[in-house]
Amino acid sequence: MNVLVIGSGGREHALCRAIGASPLCDRLWCAPGNGGIARDAECVSLDIMDFAALSAWCRETDIGFVVVGPEAPLAAGIVDSLEAAGIACFGPTAAAARLESSKSFAKDLCRRVGIPTADFARFDDFDAAREHLRRVGAPVVVKASGLAAGKGVTVARTPAEAEAALAAMEAGAFGAAGSEVLIEEFLEGEEASVFALVDGAAALPLAGAQDHKTAGEGDTGPNTGGMGAYSPAPAVDDAMLERAMEEILRPAVAAMAADGAPFRGVLYAGLMIGADGPRLLEFNVRFGDPECQVLVARLKSDLLPALMAAHDGELAHFDLRWNDRAALCVVMAAKGYPGAYEKGDEIRGLDEAEEEDGSATVFHAGTERRDGRTVAAGGRVLGVTATGRDVAEAQAAAYRAVDRIDWPGGFCRRDIGWRALARGV
Ligand code: AMP
Ligand code: GLY
Repeated sequence: MNVLVIGSGGREHALCRAIGASPLCDRLWCAPGNGGIARDAECVSLDIMDFAALSAWCRETDIGFVVVGPEAPLAAGIVDSLEAAGIACFGPTAAAARLESSKSFAKDLCRRVGIPTADFARFDDFDAAREHLRRVGAPVVVKASGLAAGKGVTVARTPAEAEAALAAMEAGAFGAAGSEVLIEEFLEGEEASVFALVDGAAALPLAGAQDHKTAGEGDTGPNTGGMGAYSPAPAVDDAMLERAMEEILRPAVAAMAADGAPFRGVLYAGLMIGADGPRLLEFNVRFGDPECQVLVARLKSDLLPALMAAHDGELAHFDLRWNDRAALCVVMAAKGYPGAYEKGDEIRGLDEAEEEDGSATVFHAGTERRDGRTVAAGGRVLGVTATGRDVAEAQAAAYRAVDRIDWPGGFCRRDIGWRALARGV
């Protein structure tokens, strides 16, 4: 079978690596891919938002299965379009992707079926939102309802910060995504993520993971797409994973099915784990990036048949085997990210990094191949991933590999995994 992966980040590189290793995969393609993916798959430069052109190309190329990485094409209905053209496509329909593309849809669903989450109020009238802010005070969380690439959320410690976030949204900082605003109760606890494969009815838990969202060490500074991740997450032991499945993921899957928008694909629940258990921060409808890199590094089973079983509604009796070893991914980004940064610098030492430690893999997120060289071509550029008996060992191996990479224009956080290490795991 020929397989097409959609996307161009580190998540898609990890997916290509796993799918390409499957005996079920004959030819593997990636649209548009990147300089590292080009070693694992045939990259094809297609517009991933032009679904008619994608369908036509898939038919010409005899693609048997499409796996979608990022949320934007899912929210815009890539699965609906490809399936209508008779092409099997892993991921949720646009209706099911509302769990991520509309925070207010997700919050309403939680309220209706009793999924634990922060209390919230929703406004499309900014005067009413300001009035509400004055009543509730701070700390409080202000969120744009639509997709804003992780940047539409302000955790406001003071009323002035909350008012400023609201004013930015009113001024159009997030475009249409900010035309509706959610004001949420501030939750305390430890953040972690759980992932499940879902086939419309059954949900198969993958592993837990934690990521580091901010650019600065000690989890400070501006938010990014994610500067590193590790799995397993000590905050998500088997009992916590089961609680999250029982209290959050399975009720959401059942509600989507009952509402006629069954969810297929990967459901990712961002959790805040407090004294009274897990509460939902947000749903995403795809693998996390860089969480996918650490999940793939720990997965022993063949990923492709699992994705196909989710697509075909056959997950109920499916099982996946995981390596007991921990995996940790350090993202190397271009200096300046998440603000303005340079592109085009050559990156050396990539092979040496993988040779340094037998367990290390360098997933590419934003690279290009130019004249036989690898150059930086994005904000998040590499995801250096390694495994070890525990998070500490995986961390040490990942940084040994990072230190072999010769890229003066790049930086990384040196403290990925610190919460796990603080717990002594
Ligand atoms: P979201 O995109 O909704 O997950 O929010 C991005 C980040 O903001 C989360 O990863 C949390 O760190 C933080 N956050 C969001 N909602 C809350 C909340 N209700 N209480 C505390 N922190 C939050
Ligand atoms: N690492 C966070 C995300 O993929 O949304």
